[in-house]
Amino acid sequence: MTSQYKKFVKLIAKWPLDATKGERDLGKVIRDKVKAAFESTERVNLDSELCNRQYASLNRLADNHYKNKYKRSHTSTATGLSTEECNLMLSSEVLTYLKEENKVTHTILRRTHTTELIEYKDHTPVLLEEAIKHLDPKDNEYYIDMTFGAGGHSRKILESSDCKLITLDRDPTAFAKARKLAVEYPNRVTPLLGRFSELPNLLKEKGIKQMSIAGMLFDFGCSSMQLDNGERGFSISKNGYLDMRMDAGRDPNQITAREVLATANEQELYKIFKIYGEEKKAAKIAQTIIQARYMIKNIETTEELVDVVNSCCPDEIRLDKLQRPQSNATKIFQALRIFVNNELNEINYGMVLAKYYLKIHGRLVTISFHSLEDTIIKRHIAGNIVNDVANPVPLKYLSPTLVQDQETIDYFLDTPWRAINKHVEVPTPEEVERNPRSRSARLRAALKIK
Ligand SMILES: C[S@@+](CC[C@H](N)C(=O)[O-])C[C@H]1O[C@@H](n2cnc3c(N)ncnc32)[C@H](O)[C@@H]1O
Repeated sequence: MTSQYKKFVKLIAKWPLDATKGERDLGKVIRDKVKAAFESTERVNLDSELCNRQYASLNRLADNHYKNKYKRSHTSTATGLSTEECNLMLSSEVLTYLKEENKVTHTILRRTHTTELIEYKDHTPVLLEEAIKHLDPKDNEYYIDMTFGAGGHSRKILESSDCKLITLDRDPTAFAKARKLAVEYPNRVTPLLGRFSELPNLLKEKGIKQMSIAGMLFDFGCSSMQLDNGERGFSISKNGYLDMRMDAGRDPNQITAREVLATANEQELYKIFKIYGEEKKAAKIAQTIIQARYMIKNIETTEELVDVVNSCCPDEIRLDKLQRPQSNATKIFQALRIFVNNELNEINYGMVLAKYYLKIHGRLVTISFHSLEDTIIKRHIAGNIVNDVANPVPLKYLSPTLVQDQETIDYFLDTPWRAINKHVEVPTPEEVERNPRSRSARLRAALKIK
């Protein structure tokens, strides 16, 4: 997105529509004109100076800069301008110019998108020693690294004992790395490409039966290779098309983040941002995306999405857990990523699979990065699940009669797991210092007891 275009999106965000003003609503006129310009195919040569001047004058109106000179009779979008005067505010030359400039940027972006995959910096494994301690690999036993990534945990498992290792990842880049590891450790590694939900079929093909695995490790979320590669569309700081599919196009039916933003309605976007991102400005951001979509164009790149979010949070500085400044768009990116990859359902599926594939006294180790993930794991281990789905409602609120019926409570709380660590384990301050991405990691470990 060009700098000019970004500014106009911000302008529209602070200029609500006022239905009571009919044809004299400048907010509507600007939207109509920006939309018409983006639809037009004419080419007009114009320098950006005129654009800047027009933007500045509209911005002054939006900010009520002339409040002392021209008193507003009421506070909405009132400018007191006629339709003709409104039309003069943003000439069609300016708008056509914006569109042309935007087209050029897109061509460049598209070209970047199709270039060859570059090797990105490897992922630093999180809570490595702690995970291996709880998994406790033994010679000749089978283990599954359910989230291979760059293979940091896998390598350590292979070094800790003479065990057999099955690796799974839905990302073809990670799978390619697993195949290399299999060459390094002959006859010990079986790399698999797929999602948790595809694992039963993949294991069947390899002749691996239920109740045969000694330990399963889950290290949820994205790898650094995914996050740091702008082309994958996960990165807030590196521009790229909003893709966010962990499977990287392996499944032609999987929707991309930009398709979500282009097709979901305002209420759906609000829910995605609120539920999966726990974003306090979910409503405003959803509304601005829809407005940009109808009035200007679809949000297609990571940079455009960051701009739209920033336009909804002017002057807001957000901090992460380490009190370092964090992008206002972090939660929106998290929400879209979870939605696009159906992550929470996958986690639930993974927990159910662990129950079926681990042998008695098999070990489950999980590393999660936010409370949505951790809640699902905690409830599986504690037994608060219904029909193999982690129950989203605390048991005591399900029904007033349930808390009085011991048999029903026992049924709900029946669990094949015994927690190994009483409380979640978190990284040491030294690890967080070394690898800030570990800052929100929480490790749980459990033994399968029945
Ligand atoms: C945090 S990284 C794992 C890093 C790894 N432990 C290491 O040390 O390099 C998470 C990985 O899990 C994969 N993943 C996430 N959800 C998955 C799912 N449902 N099925 C298979 N792989 C998944 C992602 O593609 C990503 O590569």
